[in-house]
Amino acid sequence: MTQVTAFAPGRVEILGNHTDYNGGVVLSAALQLGITAKGRRLSDGEIRLSSSGAPRVAEIQRAGSLLRTGEWIDYPLGVAEMLAQAGAEVGGFEAIYESTLPVGAGLSSSAALEVATAVLLTRLYPLEIPRMDLAKLCRRAENEFVGVNCGLLDQASSIFGKKDHLVYLDCRSEAVDAIPFPSHLGLLIINSGVKHALTGGEYNERREQCFEAARRMGVAALRDVSSVQLEAAEMPESTRRRARHVVGENERVFSAINALRSGCPEDLGPLMSASHRSSVENFENSTPELDLLVSLADAQRGCLGARLTGGGFGGAIVALVEIEAAESVRVAVESAYASQTSHKAIGILCRAGDGALPSAD
Ligand code: GLA
Repeated sequence: MTQVTAFAPGRVEILGNHTDYNGGVVLSAALQLGITAKGRRLSDGEIRLSSSGAPRVAEIQRAGSLLRTGEWIDYPLGVAEMLAQAGAEVGGFEAIYESTLPVGAGLSSSAALEVATAVLLTRLYPLEIPRMDLAKLCRRAENEFVGVNCGLLDQASSIFGKKDHLVYLDCRSEAVDAIPFPSHLGLLIINSGVKHALTGGEYNERREQCFEAARRMGVAALRDVSSVQLEAAEMPESTRRRARHVVGENERVFSAINALRSGCPEDLGPLMSASHRSSVENFENSTPELDLLVSLADAQRGCLGARLTGGGFGGAIVALVEIEAAESVRVAVESAYASQTSHKAIGILCRAGDGALPSAD
Protein backbone atom coordinates (compact mmCIF):
# COMPACT_ATOMS: atom_id res chain seq x y z
CA MET A 1 0.00 0.00 0.00
CA THR A 2 1.05 3.56 -0.56
CA GLN A 3 2.84 5.50 2.11
CA VAL A 4 0.96 8.25 3.97
CA THR A 5 2.29 11.15 6.02
CA ALA A 6 0.87 13.00 9.02
CA PHE A 7 2.24 16.00 10.88
CA ALA A 8 1.24 17.07 14.40
CA PRO A 9 2.71 20.13 16.10
CA GLY A 10 3.80 20.71 19.66
CA ARG A 11 2.10 23.49 21.55
CA VAL A 12 2.95 26.36 23.80
CA GLU A 13 0.65 27.21 26.68
CA ILE A 14 0.25 30.98 26.87
CA LEU A 15 -2.13 31.30 29.83
CA GLY A 16 -4.30 28.89 31.79
CA ASN A 17 -1.75 26.88 33.72
CA HIS A 18 -3.15 23.66 35.23
CA THR A 19 -6.69 24.74 34.41
CA ASP A 20 -7.47 21.99 31.91
CA TYR A 21 -8.11 19.16 34.39
CA ASN A 22 -10.08 21.61 36.55
CA GLY A 23 -12.72 22.18 33.86
CA GLY A 24 -11.16 25.56 33.10
CA VAL A 25 -10.06 27.63 30.14
CA VAL A 26 -6.70 27.79 28.34
CA LEU A 27 -5.02 29.94 25.73
CA SER A 28 -2.33 28.21 23.68
CA ALA A 29 -0.79 28.07 20.24
CA ALA A 30 0.24 25.18 18.03
CA LEU A 31 3.87 25.51 16.98
CA GLN A 32 5.43 25.10 13.59
CA LEU A 33 7.69 22.52 15.21
CA GLY A 34 6.32 19.03 15.64
CA ILE A 35 6.42 15.38 14.70
CA THR A 36 6.05 13.91 11.24
CA ALA A 37 4.94 10.30 10.91
CA LYS A 38 5.36 8.40 7.66
CA GLY A 39 3.71 5.03 7.48
CA ARG A 40 2.07 2.22 5.58
CA ARG A 41 -0.06 -0.79 6.31
CA LEU A 42 1.64 -4.07 7.20
CA SER A 43 -0.03 -7.44 7.03
CA ASP A 44 -0.67 -9.99 9.79
CA GLY A 45 -0.90 -7.47 12.62
CA GLU A 46 2.76 -6.61 12.53
CA ILE A 47 3.66 -3.22 14.03
CA ARG A 48 7.01 -1.62 13.27
CA LEU A 49 7.91 1.69 14.93
CA SER A 50 11.04 3.74 14.57
CA SER A 51 12.16 7.25 15.30
CA SER A 52 15.17 9.27 14.30
CA GLY A 53 15.70 9.90 18.02
CA ALA A 54 15.50 6.25 19.15
CA PRO A 55 18.34 3.72 18.91
CA ARG A 56 16.42 0.80 17.45
CA VAL A 57 13.34 -0.26 15.51
CA ALA A 58 10.58 -1.71 17.69
CA GLU A 59 8.76 -4.70 16.23
CA ILE A 60 5.59 -6.02 17.80
CA GLN A 61 3.32 -8.82 16.75
CA ARG A 62 -0.22 -7.89 17.55
CA ALA A 63 -2.25 -10.68 19.16
CA GLY A 64 -5.27 -9.27 20.98
CA SER A 65 -4.82 -6.16 23.09
CA LEU A 66 -1.58 -4.23 22.95
CA LEU A 67 0.45 -4.05 26.14
CA ARG A 68 2.46 -1.26 27.69
CA THR A 69 6.24 -1.55 27.28
CA GLY A 70 7.52 1.35 29.39
CA GLU A 71 9.22 2.87 26.33
CA TRP A 72 8.41 5.75 23.96
CA ILE A 73 6.45 3.39 21.69
CA ASP A 74 3.70 3.30 24.35
CA TYR A 75 2.38 6.58 22.94
CA PRO A 76 1.72 5.21 19.42
CA LEU A 77 0.69 1.80 20.79
CA GLY A 78 -1.74 3.49 23.18
CA VAL A 79 -3.33 5.39 20.30
CA ALA A 80 -3.63 2.20 18.21
CA GLU A 81 -5.22 0.46 21.19
CA MET A 82 -7.70 3.28 21.88
CA LEU A 83 -8.66 3.42 18.20
CA ALA A 84 -9.29 -0.33 18.29
CA GLN A 85 -11.41 0.08 21.43
CA ALA A 86 -13.35 2.82 19.62
CA GLY A 87 -14.22 0.30 16.91
CA ALA A 88 -11.56 1.07 14.29
CA GLU A 89 -10.22 -1.91 12.35
CA VAL A 90 -6.58 -1.02 12.90
CA GLY A 91 -4.35 -3.80 11.57
CA GLY A 92 -0.59 -3.91 11.16
CA PHE A 93 1.34 -0.79 10.33
CA GLU A 94 4.75 0.77 10.09
CA ALA A 95 5.38 4.28 11.37
CA ILE A 96 8.62 6.24 11.06
CA TYR A 97 8.78 9.38 13.18
CA GLU A 98 10.86 12.50 12.87
CA SER A 99 10.71 15.33 15.36
CA THR A 100 11.75 18.95 15.30
CA LEU A 101 10.59 19.47 18.91
CA PRO A 102 13.03 19.70 21.80
CA VAL A 103 12.28 16.83 24.20
CA GLY A 104 11.58 17.63 27.84
CA ALA A 105 10.91 21.30 27.18
CA GLY A 106 7.23 21.12 28.07
CA LEU A 107 6.17 21.69 24.46
CA SER A 108 4.12 18.49 24.29
CA SER A 109 6.21 16.18 22.21
CA SER A 110 4.13 13.34 23.65
CA ALA A 111 0.83 14.83 22.46
CA ALA A 112 2.40 15.48 19.04
CA LEU A 113 3.43 11.83 18.89
CA GLU A 114 -0.07 10.68 19.82
CA VAL A 115 -1.82 13.01 17.40
CA ALA A 116 0.55 12.26 14.50
CA THR A 117 -0.12 8.55 15.09
CA ALA A 118 -3.88 9.03 15.32
CA VAL A 119 -3.99 10.99 12.06
CA LEU A 120 -1.69 8.49 10.36
CA LEU A 121 -3.75 5.49 11.47
CA THR A 122 -7.09 7.05 10.55
CA ARG A 123 -5.64 7.61 7.08
CA LEU A 124 -4.22 4.09 6.77
CA TYR A 125 -7.39 2.49 8.16
CA PRO A 126 -9.97 5.10 7.16
CA LEU A 127 -12.18 6.20 10.01
CA GLU A 128 -14.30 9.33 10.34
CA ILE A 129 -13.86 10.69 13.81
CA PRO A 130 -14.70 14.26 14.90
CA ARG A 131 -11.66 16.33 15.83
CA MET A 132 -12.54 16.75 19.50
CA ASP A 133 -13.19 13.02 19.82
CA LEU A 134 -9.78 12.36 18.32
CA ALA A 135 -8.17 14.76 20.83
CA LYS A 136 -9.93 12.95 23.69
CA LEU A 137 -8.92 9.56 22.33
CA CYS A 138 -5.27 10.67 22.31
CA ARG A 139 -5.59 11.97 25.86
CA ARG A 140 -7.10 8.63 26.88
CA ALA A 141 -4.10 6.87 25.34
CA GLU A 142 -1.85 8.97 27.55
CA ASN A 143 -4.00 8.64 30.69
CA GLU A 144 -4.92 4.98 30.48
CA PHE A 145 -2.21 3.33 28.39
CA VAL A 146 0.92 5.36 29.12
CA GLY A 147 -0.29 6.20 32.63
CA VAL A 148 0.18 9.99 32.68
CA ASN A 149 -2.75 12.02 34.04
CA CYS A 150 -2.62 15.00 31.66
CA GLY A 151 -5.63 17.15 30.75
CA LEU A 152 -6.90 17.98 27.24
CA LEU A 153 -4.79 21.05 26.49
CA ASP A 154 -1.91 19.40 24.65
CA GLN A 155 -3.85 17.14 22.31
CA ALA A 156 -6.54 19.75 21.53
CA SER A 157 -3.92 22.41 20.73
CA SER A 158 -2.02 20.01 18.50
CA ILE A 159 -5.18 19.21 16.55
CA PHE A 160 -7.03 22.57 16.47
CA GLY A 161 -4.10 24.99 16.08
CA LYS A 162 -4.38 27.57 13.35
CA LYS A 163 -1.63 29.56 11.65
CA ASP A 164 -1.27 33.07 13.14
CA HIS A 165 -4.03 32.35 15.68
CA LEU A 166 -4.15 31.40 19.32
CA VAL A 167 -6.29 28.47 20.43
CA TYR A 168 -8.85 29.20 23.11
CA LEU A 169 -10.09 25.99 24.71
CA ASP A 170 -12.90 25.69 27.21
CA CYS A 171 -12.28 22.32 28.83
CA ARG A 172 -15.77 22.12 30.31
CA SER A 173 -17.88 22.82 27.24
CA GLU A 174 -15.11 21.49 24.95
CA ALA A 175 -15.59 24.54 22.74
CA VAL A 176 -12.57 25.71 20.76
CA ASP A 177 -12.04 29.08 19.14
CA ALA A 178 -9.21 30.47 17.01
CA ILE A 179 -8.27 34.04 17.91
CA PRO A 180 -6.12 36.11 15.53
CA PHE A 181 -2.65 36.90 16.86
CA PRO A 182 -1.01 40.06 15.52
CA SER A 183 2.09 39.81 13.33
CA HIS A 184 4.09 42.46 15.24
CA LEU A 185 4.23 40.19 18.31
CA GLY A 186 6.06 36.91 18.69
CA LEU A 187 6.34 34.05 21.14
CA LEU A 188 9.90 33.48 22.26
CA ILE A 189 10.25 30.06 23.84
CA ILE A 190 13.39 29.60 25.92
CA ASN A 191 14.24 26.12 27.14
CA SER A 192 16.01 26.09 30.50
CA GLY A 193 17.88 22.90 29.61
CA VAL A 194 16.67 21.37 32.86
CA LYS A 195 14.51 18.40 32.10
CA HIS A 196 10.81 18.27 32.54
CA ALA A 197 9.17 14.93 33.25
CA LEU A 198 5.46 14.74 33.93
CA THR A 199 5.81 11.22 35.19
CA GLY A 200 7.31 12.77 38.34
CA GLY A 201 4.83 12.78 41.20
CA GLU A 202 4.45 16.56 41.44
CA TYR A 203 1.90 16.88 38.67
CA ASN A 204 -0.41 14.29 40.20
CA GLU A 205 0.08 15.77 43.64
CA ARG A 206 -1.00 19.23 42.41
CA ARG A 207 -3.94 17.66 40.64
CA GLU A 208 -5.11 16.00 43.86
CA GLN A 209 -4.74 19.25 45.79
CA CYS A 210 -6.94 21.03 43.25
CA PHE A 211 -9.58 18.29 43.50
CA GLU A 212 -9.38 18.50 47.28
CA ALA A 213 -10.04 22.28 47.16
CA ALA A 214 -13.06 21.71 44.89
CA ARG A 215 -14.39 19.02 47.26
CA ARG A 216 -14.04 21.32 50.24
CA MET A 217 -16.03 23.98 48.41
CA GLY A 218 -18.71 21.50 47.37
CA VAL A 219 -18.27 22.12 43.63
CA ALA A 220 -17.59 19.77 40.74
CA ALA A 221 -14.38 21.56 39.73
CA LEU A 222 -12.40 24.72 40.47
CA ARG A 223 -13.92 26.21 37.32
CA ASP A 224 -17.02 26.82 39.42
CA VAL A 225 -15.20 29.03 41.93
CA SER A 226 -14.43 32.77 41.83
CA SER A 227 -11.49 34.37 43.63
CA VAL A 228 -13.87 36.02 46.11
CA GLN A 229 -15.54 32.69 46.97
CA LEU A 230 -12.20 30.98 47.32
CA GLU A 231 -10.78 33.54 49.72
CA ALA A 232 -13.91 33.29 51.90
CA ALA A 233 -13.87 29.47 52.10
CA GLU A 234 -12.52 27.40 54.99
CA MET A 235 -9.51 25.33 53.97
CA PRO A 236 -5.84 24.84 54.80
CA GLU A 237 -3.70 27.68 53.47
CA SER A 238 -1.60 25.38 51.28
CA THR A 239 -4.72 24.00 49.55
CA ARG A 240 -6.06 27.53 49.08
CA ARG A 241 -2.82 28.63 47.38
CA ARG A 242 -3.03 25.81 44.85
CA ALA A 243 -6.64 26.68 44.08
CA ARG A 244 -5.82 30.41 43.94
CA HIS A 245 -3.44 29.73 41.07
CA VAL A 246 -6.02 27.83 39.03
CA VAL A 247 -8.87 30.25 39.73
CA GLY A 248 -6.57 33.19 38.93
CA GLU A 249 -5.44 31.54 35.71
CA ASN A 250 -9.03 31.14 34.52
CA GLU A 251 -9.60 34.83 35.23
CA ARG A 252 -6.40 35.79 33.41
CA VAL A 253 -7.45 33.78 30.35
CA PHE A 254 -10.78 35.64 30.23
CA SER A 255 -8.94 38.97 30.54
CA ALA A 256 -6.57 37.93 27.75
CA ILE A 257 -9.45 37.01 25.44
CA ASN A 258 -11.03 40.43 26.08
CA ALA A 259 -7.70 42.14 25.40
CA LEU A 260 -7.18 40.25 22.13
CA ARG A 261 -10.75 40.90 20.99
CA SER A 262 -10.55 44.59 21.80
CA GLY A 263 -7.30 45.12 19.91
CA CYS A 264 -4.94 45.33 22.92
CA PRO A 265 -2.78 42.18 22.51
CA GLU A 266 0.11 43.83 24.41
CA ASP A 267 -2.02 43.47 27.57
CA LEU A 268 -1.24 39.76 27.51
CA GLY A 269 2.29 40.57 28.70
CA PRO A 270 1.41 41.67 32.25
CA LEU A 271 -1.10 38.80 32.52
CA MET A 272 1.67 36.34 31.66
CA SER A 273 3.98 37.87 34.25
CA ALA A 274 1.22 37.67 36.86
CA SER A 275 0.74 34.02 35.91
CA HIS A 276 4.39 33.31 36.59
CA ARG A 277 4.29 35.09 39.96
CA SER A 278 1.32 32.93 40.87
CA SER A 279 3.22 29.79 39.84
CA VAL A 280 6.01 30.84 42.19
CA GLU A 281 3.87 31.96 45.12
CA ASN A 282 0.84 29.72 44.91
CA PHE A 283 1.35 26.63 42.80
CA GLU A 284 5.05 26.15 43.43
CA ASN A 285 5.63 24.56 40.05
CA SER A 286 8.53 26.75 39.00
CA THR A 287 12.26 26.15 39.36
CA PRO A 288 15.19 28.53 40.01
CA GLU A 289 16.18 28.18 36.34
CA LEU A 290 12.72 29.11 35.07
CA ASP A 291 12.57 32.05 37.51
CA LEU A 292 15.95 33.26 36.29
CA LEU A 293 14.88 33.03 32.64
CA VAL A 294 11.67 34.93 33.36
CA SER A 295 13.47 37.71 35.19
CA LEU A 296 16.17 37.96 32.50
CA ALA A 297 13.51 38.15 29.77
CA ASP A 298 11.39 40.67 31.69
CA ALA A 299 14.41 42.97 31.98
CA GLN A 300 14.84 43.25 28.19
CA ARG A 301 13.41 46.06 26.12
CA GLY A 302 10.75 44.65 23.79
CA CYS A 303 9.71 41.87 26.16
CA LEU A 304 6.13 42.43 27.30
CA GLY A 305 5.86 39.56 29.80
CA ALA A 306 7.07 36.03 30.43
CA ARG A 307 6.09 32.89 32.31
CA LEU A 308 6.79 29.20 32.59
CA THR A 309 4.84 27.15 30.09
CA GLY A 310 3.26 23.72 30.52
CA GLY A 311 3.34 21.57 33.61
CA GLY A 312 6.32 23.32 35.19
CA PHE A 313 9.04 21.77 37.37
CA GLY A 314 11.54 22.48 34.58
CA GLY A 315 11.20 22.87 30.83
CA ALA A 316 10.73 26.19 29.11
CA ILE A 317 9.41 29.71 29.51
CA VAL A 318 7.44 31.66 26.94
CA ALA A 319 7.96 35.39 26.51
CA LEU A 320 5.69 37.73 24.59
CA VAL A 321 8.01 39.93 22.55
CA GLU A 322 7.86 42.61 19.92
CA ILE A 323 9.02 40.85 16.78
CA GLU A 324 11.64 43.49 16.08
CA ALA A 325 13.25 42.95 19.49
CA ALA A 326 12.97 39.15 19.52
CA GLU A 327 16.50 38.43 18.37
CA SER A 328 18.16 40.79 20.83
CA VAL A 329 16.02 39.46 23.70
CA ARG A 330 17.00 35.90 22.79
CA VAL A 331 20.72 36.63 22.59
CA ALA A 332 20.76 38.66 25.83
CA VAL A 333 18.83 36.04 27.82
CA GLU A 334 20.88 33.12 26.50
CA SER A 335 24.19 34.75 27.33
CA ALA A 336 23.19 36.03 30.79
CA TYR A 337 21.80 32.57 31.64
CA ALA A 338 25.03 30.90 30.52
CA SER A 339 27.08 33.19 32.72
CA GLN A 340 24.86 32.65 35.77
CA THR A 341 24.21 28.89 35.59
CA SER A 342 25.92 25.73 34.41
CA HIS A 343 23.11 25.14 31.90
CA LYS A 344 22.60 26.25 28.35
CA ALA A 345 19.33 27.97 27.45
CA ILE A 346 18.07 27.75 23.89
CA GLY A 347 15.58 30.30 22.61
CA ILE A 348 13.34 29.77 19.60
CA LEU A 349 11.13 32.47 18.17
CA CYS A 350 7.87 30.76 17.24
CA ARG A 351 4.90 31.72 15.18
CA ALA A 352 1.54 30.11 15.78
CA GLY A 353 1.20 27.27 13.28
CA ASP A 354 -1.51 25.01 11.93
CA GLY A 355 -2.68 22.05 13.95
CA ALA A 356 -2.75 18.52 12.60
CA LEU A 357 -6.33 19.01 11.41
CA PRO A 358 -6.90 22.77 11.08
CA SER A 359 -10.33 24.05 10.16
CA ALA A 360 -10.85 24.97 6.52
CA ASP A 361 -12.12 28.53 7.22
C1 GLA B 1 0.94 19.54 31.08
C2 GLA B 1 -0.28 18.68 30.84
C3 GLA B 1 -1.46 19.53 30.40
C4 GLA B 1 -1.68 20.71 31.37
C5 GLA B 1 -0.37 21.44 31.62
C6 GLA B 1 -0.48 22.51 32.66
O1 GLA B 1 1.38 20.09 29.87
O2 GLA B 1 0.00 17.71 29.86
O3 GLA B 1 -2.61 18.74 30.30
O4 GLA B 1 -2.26 20.24 32.56
O5 GLA B 1 0.66 20.55 32.02
O6 GLA B 1 -1.36 23.51 32.27
